[in-house]
Amino acid sequence: MGVHILSVEATEPAAVIVLAAGAGTRMKSAKPKILHEIGGRSMVGHAIAAASGLEPQKLVAVVRHERDRVVEHLLEIAPSLIIADQDEVPGTGRAVQLGLAALPEHTEGTIVVTYGDVPLLTTSLLRELVAVHEVDENSVTVLTALLDDATGYGRILRADDGTVIGIVEHKDATDEQLAIREINSGIYAFDAAVLRDALAQVTTDNAQAEMYLTDVLGIARRAGGRVAAVVTGDRWQVEGVNDRVQLAALGAEMNRRIVEKWMRAGVTVIDPATTWIGVEVALSNDVTIKPGTQLHGLTAIGTDAIIGPDTTLTNVRVGRGASVVRSDATDSQIGAGATVGPFAYLRPKTDLGEQGKIGAFYETKNVTIGTGSKLSHLGYAGDAEIGEYTNIGCGNITANYDGVNKHRTVIGSHVRTSSNTVFVAPVSIGDGAYTGAGAIVRKDVPAGALALSIAPQRNAEGWTVAKRPGSASAQAAEAAH
Ligand code: UD1
Ligand code: CA
Repeated sequence: MGVHILSVEATEPAAVIVLAAGAGTRMKSAKPKILHEIGGRSMVGHAIAAASGLEPQKLVAVVRHERDRVVEHLLEIAPSLIIADQDEVPGTGRAVQLGLAALPEHTEGTIVVTYGDVPLLTTSLLRELVAVHEVDENSVTVLTALLDDATGYGRILRADDGTVIGIVEHKDATDEQLAIREINSGIYAFDAAVLRDALAQVTTDNAQAEMYLTDVLGIARRAGGRVAAVVTGDRWQVEGVNDRVQLAALGAEMNRRIVEKWMRAGVTVIDPATTWIGVEVALSNDVTIKPGTQLHGLTAIGTDAIIGPDTTLTNVRVGRGASVVRSDATDSQIGAGATVGPFAYLRPKTDLGEQGKIGAFYETKNVTIGTGSKLSHLGYAGDAEIGEYTNIGCGNITANYDGVNKHRTVIGSHVRTSSNTVFVAPVSIGDGAYTGAGAIVRKDVPAGALALSIAPQRNAEGWTVAKRPGSASAQAAEAAH
């Protein structure tokens, strides 16, 4: 259990084999376990990302359960991945044997084995494992951790002098072995030739009638190879997800790590516990994130922007100095210095220009809004283009849908529209034009014109008393005379 101080860089391994054939029954899900997400990425996506970081010559995934669905996802995230299908022979040993068979014959060097359901594992810990393995010229190096509750895990067996002599599975262990706290993470670096030869000797003669990969350690050692362990103090990195309780726990820990990373990079996070940031989100320094905020997908936030409270952004680019308050936005852009919310709903392809505004209770979709233009209160803007420094009044609606087709509204620059204007698309409003309150704009408005569409007001005197006799309104009207 020596401490390794590494000055030697690990080389790129010959291959990483990611085991992903298991069923994950405890998730009780129609969706394969490894496709469940934390931090905005599937668990197997995290595994592939960590493995790819080692820049292996070959990357292999072993699949079986929900094979086609898993393979489709895998090839989407890693097109050059080699797929190996596991057969009916169960066990991690068989899975790795079939993974090896998918590699070029006589592959030499280091083979790393890892799991598709261990999402917090990092490239840097894998790199440390490979470095120790290669520097010490081991046949097998296993990643282990010391757990207070080792239930279910394989236990690391060591000789009196501390050398690793093998692994015993929980179900095969004696009471004495069950007391061992050092567990097998299931993540290893192997010498390719040793692994191939040892797997040929592994049987299914055990409590679970499976081919145990763990048997390779004892076999390699008896053949005279060096078998060793790297003990990590970071148990989260070796923890797998078996059910949704663990999924949530690991998701929270991953988020804690992401949020901490951004705070150290200069982002103010008022309440880390209610702030959720996906792995692919990019933040600039001096961004402020207020409580109850979720940032998903490829969201990117510029410096000095203020996001939240209670805001959800998915694939949104926010410019420097913008603010987004209690709002929800997807697949959109918010320009520098612009303001959004409270209670705005930006649907895909909303492009708000610099210093622009989408205010309270506004819904937008597929709309380009120029620099300094404001849609301040209560309305809907869809399939529209708005120029610069235009002010859209309260309660304006783009009537973009005729029940069959969507149509565009084009509004120029320096336009002023009054409250409750309805734009019946397709329609266009020229630069510097105005609309009157309640205008229903069905025809194009030339530049500089005032559009009025409402009939003159007429008051029918005495109407309430005549038409609603005896009502409270009629009594009030009579009392007023
Ligand atoms: C295995 C180890 C155990 C270790 C534990 C860590 C063996 C025999 N035991 O336990 O020592 O403490 O992992 O979590 O290796 N898989 C396949 N094909 C299979 C079986 C499993 O691809 O036939 C994959 C699973 O999808 C999963 C991983 O291997 O990603 C581990 O399988 P699981 O059944 O969870 O682990 P155990 O065998 O219980
Ligand atoms: Ca098992």
